[in-house]
Order: sequence, then structure tokens, then C-alpha cells
Amino acid sequence: MPEAAKSFYLTTPIYYVNDAPHIGHAYTTVAADVVTRWHRQRQEDVWFLTGTDEHGEKVLRTAEKNGVSPQEWADRLVESAWQPVLETIDARNDDFIRTTQERHVVAVQKFLQGLYDAGEIYKGSYEGPYCVGCEEYKLPGELLDGTGEYAGQKVCPIHLRPVEMLAEENYFFRMSAYADRLLALYEEHPEFVQPASARNEVVGFVKQGLQDLSISRSTFDWGIPIPWDDKHVLYVWFDALLNYMTAVGYGSDDAAERERFARTWPADVHLVGKDILRFHAVIWPAMLMAAGLPLPKQVFAHGWLLVGGEKMSKSRLTGIAPSDIIDTFGSDAFRYYFMRTIGFGGDGSFSWEDMVARYNGELANGFGNLASRTAAMIGKYFGGTLPAAGARTDLETDLEAVAAKAVADAEAAIDRMAIHDAVAAVWSLVDATNGYLTETQPWKVAKEPGETDAEGRGVDGGRLATSLVTAAEALRALAVLLHPVTPKAAARLWEALGAEPVLGPIAAQPVASAASFGVLPAGTTVTKGAALFPRLDEDA
Ligand code: ME8
Ligand code: MG
Repeated sequence: MPEAAKSFYLTTPIYYVNDAPHIGHAYTTVAADVVTRWHRQRQEDVWFLTGTDEHGEKVLRTAEKNGVSPQEWADRLVESAWQPVLETIDARNDDFIRTTQERHVVAVQKFLQGLYDAGEIYKGSYEGPYCVGCEEYKLPGELLDGTGEYAGQKVCPIHLRPVEMLAEENYFFRMSAYADRLLALYEEHPEFVQPASARNEVVGFVKQGLQDLSISRSTFDWGIPIPWDDKHVLYVWFDALLNYMTAVGYGSDDAAERERFARTWPADVHLVGKDILRFHAVIWPAMLMAAGLPLPKQVFAHGWLLVGGEKMSKSRLTGIAPSDIIDTFGSDAFRYYFMRTIGFGGDGSFSWEDMVARYNGELANGFGNLASRTAAMIGKYFGGTLPAAGARTDLETDLEAVAAKAVADAEAAIDRMAIHDAVAAVWSLVDATNGYLTETQPWKVAKEPGETDAEGRGVDGGRLATSLVTAAEALRALAVLLHPVTPKAAARLWEALGAEPVLGPIAAQPVASAASFGVLPAGTTVTKGAALFPRLDEDA
């Protein structure tokens, strides 16, 4: 039997269920969705995983504050918030893992027992400052002096909240032994941690040397029991990181699941925010090295959505819910805005003014209006039936060349996870097609002799026909190329162009061949549907 092709496997972080999602979480998941949809349209076998991180002290404390068990709390948040938000943002994940699921718990215990048997885990004691927000022991040197209500206390540099001194007898993972191998990994595989700023940070951190990692807690019991000592539960990060393997069949006894693991692991990209870079680029590969398992190909850390110059956060109550924006603008505009405006890897922020301006300028006027006026003219001059184009001029050849460059540039940008560049590359075709219509002026050509018949209907093979067929071809290419970013609008455009009966569903359209014109046959029914992006009042 031929070996099944390796899947393109991409993950988001699994999010803490201590609170509902805000647009920072949606940002990561949208980016993951855009990249995986793009890879699907490369005809790859794609697996897109997201989910929730449900154990640990942070979730336990929230549940206690709300007077319910942590399991009840997690169930409630997953059902009412974390799963529904995927629909809100229009994400098409293939699986959703919860760390309280049996498939995860059992496989984590197997992994752990394996490391213990191999002598990678020992018992010791630890004392140090702990941040519950990060679920991490901090090094005294990284702490900041608190201000305001926290003056006089040491605070976490990410959460800006006081740390707690913890002293416990714990199990430890011999992580210090892996510093040299990790440095060799970063050296030999510069693509392992990206972008470059993230890679530099990780290399600098590991060069200072690594400590062994405390991987168990005994002061509470909301976690996966340590298989050989049930007075301890597993440290939440050790538990959480393993989701990337347990979700695709690692540790399963089921033959089909084991086959899936072989086909899917290692992951191609772990997409994370820069707040959790070290866990993914240091602890996670060290765990895999200790277990003798293949390493993921890349950890990509994107930047933060900022509010008032600080990271938008659940714990600081600066979160904006995705629906606050999507109720007004729709999921497509939300996705477009964040993917287009923030250089992927850097920080960014959201502003209502900028959102309204880009929505109206780029989506409504730039793209939506292009689609509606092209369809309207095909309706007016050709009764909604695509004519046969006439001879090509340089204008048509040039536009097709712009489309080809847009595809090539976007493909290359996706491969370096420069999502913003990919969207900009595709947008060059929106602009060029608008320019093409401005230049060819079909509404004026229609008045020239020989272009229309006695009833004012356009004729096949004329310049009027050529320019409208060419604009329709550019729109067909745009529907294909924008489908990963604005799936709903792309699907509606696909329908308006009458493309599905001829070419099949939009989601199955290959990006690589999108730029070749002359695909929609004469006779295709083109309809002017409702506006793709109705203009919004500037002071809405
Ligand atoms: O860290 N800007 O979960 P978490 C951009 N459970 N992205 C943001 C963001 C912001 N302001 N705020 C959150 C955890 N994110 C762990 C992960 S993985 C094995 C375990 C996004 O709920 C970003 O992806 O705190 C960040 O890394 C993640 O949410 C943190 O989510
Ligand atoms: Mg967090």
C-alpha cells in the first residue's frame, strides 16, 4: 500500500476557559483558519486543530469564585463561548480538543510514564515566585516593580499582577540537559522559531542556561494525576502542550488513530501569541527530545492586540468580544481587517474609525463595487449571460499578468506566514481590475457603432464583450484567492458569477491556477446579487 501523503497540520493554542474569548483569541484562530483554508486550496490534506486548556489553578480559582466545580465551569464556558465563537468568526477547524477528554488524559499519562521510566523525571523541591495568570514559575530577574495598587510588590511582566511565593515538593523534568540540543536545533533550523525577533528572544533565553522544570503540583487536585503518585497532579503546561499530539492519535490503542498520528505528526506550524513563545519553543521541543519523538517544523509567534499600549487581556478586563465587532461588520470584514492591517508577527490595535474607513474604502468601494458594477453591466448589455470575448489587447494581457503575480506573491507570503502580505498581493488585483474598467470604459464603448445591436444589447466578440468577460475573469480569480480570508463574500461572488455549475464549489478551487483567464465559458449566467459589502454610515 502506498504511504499516505503527510498532512499539513496547523494548531492554535488551546485557550484557558477561565473566561470567554476576546478578539485576541479570535485573531489567532482567524489567522490559523486563513492559512489552513489557503493550504486546502492548494489541494493539500489539511488538519486544523484548536481547543481548550481546562486544568490548572487559574481555571480552578475561577470556578471556585463562581461556586461551581471546575468541570462544570469548563463545560459551561466551552458550550456557551469557546465553541460558538468559531461559528461567529467563521473558522472551519477539523477538531476541537479539550484537555479534560479521556483521549487526552490517557495519552498524557502514557507519555509521562515513559519519561519517568527513562529517568527523565525525578523528585525534588522548589521555591519561587509563581504567576497564576501565566501558570509559570518566574525568575526573580524578570519581575517588575508593581505600581498603583500593587506598589511595593513584585509583578509578572505579562499580567502586571503580583506573583505568589510557592514552596513545594514536586516532580521535575530534566530540562537543563537539553539546552545544548535546543541551541543546535535553533541553529540548524532557523525556521523552527519564527519570526526572527521571536527566534532571537528564544536563543538569548536558552543561552543563559536552563533549569529543570517543576512538572507537578500537590496543593490542589484539578489536573491529570501523576500515574505513579496520585498525590500530585501534572503541571498544566506539560498537560496542555501534549494536546497537539493527543488530538491526532498519539498514545491511542486504536489502529486507525495510530495511523492518523503517523500521517499527521509532526505538526507543520504551531501558531501562538508571543506571550507563550517560550513554552512552545523551549519546553515543548525538550519534552519531545526526551521522549524521542519528532519535533514540530515551526513555532510561529504573532504579536499582541494592544489596548492603551498594553496586551488586551481577560485578566485585565480590556477584552473586546468578537461579536462586538462582527455584529456590525460581519465576520468577513473582521477577518479581512485583522489580517490586512497588522503585519503578522508584530503588535497591532483595533480602532473603530480605521475599521469603518477600511470597510467602506476597501471592501465596499474597492471590491464590492467592482463586483456589482461588473455584474450590472453584464446584466444590462448581455441580459446576464456571459458573452464571447473578442481579440485581446495589451490591457487584457497586462491584467492577467497582474493576476499571475498576485498568486505568486501571495503563495510565497503564505509560506513565510506573512498573511498581511498575502492579502495585499491579492488586493493588487482588486485595484488593477478597477483600473482596467476605468481605462476600458465599457459604459462608453457600449455607445460605439457595432458594439450593440438595434435593441441596445451587446454583441459577442466586441470590445464591450471583451472588457466585461475580462473583468468577470478577474472577479473569478478574486473569489478563489479571497475565499480563505473572506469566505462568505467569496462564496456569494462565486454564485453571482455562475461559477459553481461549471467549476465546482469555491472551497475546492486551486489557488495555483486561479490566475489563468478564459475559464468561465460564454453562456454562463451572471447575476447581480445583493452588495457583498453594503456601505456603512461613517458615524454608525
Ligand atoms: O496561554 N493579542 O491560553 P490563553 C493577540 N492555555 N493574541 C492574543 C491576545 C492578544 N491581546 N490575548 C490572547 C494560554 N491571545 C494557554 C495556551 S497552548 C498548549 C496553551 C491569544 O487563553 C494568543 O494566541 O491565555 C495567545 O498566545 C493565546 O491567546 C493565549 O490564550
Ligand atoms: Mg493568557
